Amino acid sequence: MMRYSRRNFLKAAGAGITLTAIEGESLFAAVAPPLPTPITKERATFIINGKPLVAEYEARTTLWEVIAVKLGLTGTTRSCNRASCGACSVLIDGTPFYSCHTLAMEAAGKKIFTIEGLGDEKNLHPLQKVGYLYMAADCGFCTAGWSVTAKALLDKNLNPSADEVKSALAGHICRCAAYSAIVRTVVDTAAVLRGEAEII
Ligand code: FES
Ligand code: FES
Repeated sequence: MMRYSRRNFLKAAGAGITLTAIEGESLFAAVAPPLPTPITKERATFIINGKPLVAEYEARTTLWEVIAVKLGLTGTTRSCNRASCGACSVLIDGTPFYSCHTLAMEAAGKKIFTIEGLGDEKNLHPLQKVGYLYMAADCGFCTAGWSVTAKALLDKNLNPSADEVKSALAGHICRCAAYSAIVRTVVDTAAVLRGEAEII
């Protein structure tokens, strides 16, 4: 009678591997896994919102992991983690980057700007005040990302048209589809910053 057991199964599987190795000669060597490469740690200073912060990270660590996990600046949201939605955007030397797909080592020593640098509860940036009035955030997952990209735009162009705002924010997806409120927020914030409108 045939008896099934884990021990018998493993014995049979071992015999099969041996036979394959004998018949296929070099087959066994061909499929041997490569030796793991040692994980090396790096240590660097990240200048975030003007403050030098030191973090230790591995070569494969993303900038988002350093900012949010290692340094605790959790305002930057990671959503798709696929370089598709823009939620994780931060500025590096004034240019927006998806932090989920930027290696930490690429940003080490450079000037990084995150949503925490824009404003806080007591001192909101006009973008945040106008965005609040226009309800430019619903769930809020996309907000930190487009806000820093909008800041980068306004730093270069204080009088953007709606089309220029759409073009600058093209890499940002809002799952709640607050697009019209977001565009209006950026255009009208520019007017506030130019001194041609005020928030009441
Ligand atoms: S979380 Fe980085 S692009 Fe979506
Ligand atoms: S407010 Fe929900 S994703 Fe934009």
